[in-house]
Amino acid sequence: MLDATTHCDGGTKAYIQQLMQAVAGLLTTMSEYTDMTTSTVLITGASTGIGAVYADRFARRGHDLVLVARDEARLEALATRLRQDHRIAVDVLPADLTLASDLTRVEKRLQDDSRIDTLINNAGIAQSGGFVEQTPDSITQLIALNTTALTRLAAAIAPRLVQAGQGSIVNISSVVGLAPEFAMSVYGATKAYVLFLSQGLSLELSAKGVYVQAVLPAGTYTEIWQRAGIDISHFAQMMQVDELVDAALVGFDRREVVTIPPLHNAARWENLDATRQALLSDIKQAEAALRYKTA
Ligand SMILES: NC(=O)c1ccc[n+]([C@@H]2O[C@H](COP(=O)([O-])OP(=O)(O)OC[C@H]3O[C@@H](n4cnc5c(N)ncnc54)[C@H](OP(=O)(O)O)[C@@H]3O)[C@@H](O)[C@H]2O)c1
Repeated sequence: MLDATTHCDGGTKAYIQQLMQAVAGLLTTMSEYTDMTTSTVLITGASTGIGAVYADRFARRGHDLVLVARDEARLEALATRLRQDHRIAVDVLPADLTLASDLTRVEKRLQDDSRIDTLINNAGIAQSGGFVEQTPDSITQLIALNTTALTRLAAAIAPRLVQAGQGSIVNISSVVGLAPEFAMSVYGATKAYVLFLSQGLSLELSAKGVYVQAVLPAGTYTEIWQRAGIDISHFAQMMQVDELVDAALVGFDRREVVTIPPLHNAARWENLDATRQALLSDIKQAEAALRYKTA
């Protein structure tokens, strides 16, 4: 190979070699940048907890972000850090997703902003107490955020993603949605809804190029417990939020429809789903089952 420094004296040669190394470094950095995607990810509940870690991870991957939650100051602080650390564009979109006017604003952003190709439907709340202790207001708030807002945001972005033939919708469910035994009936019901919705949307949209993922965390250290007034001091050890999101993103990259980071034996889920499908083959809608025919 031709060596450009062959006819130079020692000092000039060292200088040229340094220069060439700098140019090579610059070219590598440029090629890394051109490999990075510039698509935008909209994350709800991004001011703290699971949503804030998703924001950090997508920023590291070079995505621009739209961060949604109620606490504007916290969103701005996160946005400032992510802009500085990762040289990405971050928009802050403060919204209370239980308020019709705020929800409509976020829907409009999802409908109109063609750079957004990924929705992380994460904002959610829990509540303390048994069913008879819960108030109409707390039940209404929980259902409005965990199910109504989540569904409407998915519905707002889905037509545009289908049109583009690509994009992703990630819905944060919970293992509580698999377990009525946990005595969190309304919260668990909203999370079972999120799982069902995600499975249904995946069946409807995957053929059109749109990836839908349900993520089912178990107990994870975030503010959700304190906010709901649930004392976790006597709980068994839970998962760190970074570990949860990193595992969920492994499932995302593998294009799993259902990702359950704390489930250690994956065959359990596969068997459950296979059993559910087998049950469907035994449903014969024209006739009641023999055990119900008394005459
Ligand atoms: N942590 C767990 O153990 C666990 C387990 C299973 C599933 N999950 C699910 O994971 C998701 C995230 O929970 P997390 O643990 O990260 O909770 P978190 O730390 O309490 O964070 C919840 C996020 O949602 C936002 N939020 C709450 N009410 C909102 C509203 N009305 N409008 C808009 N944003 C709102 C909060 O921000 P603002 O207060 O600024 O609005 C915050 O950013 C939830 O769907 C939760 O059900 C959590």
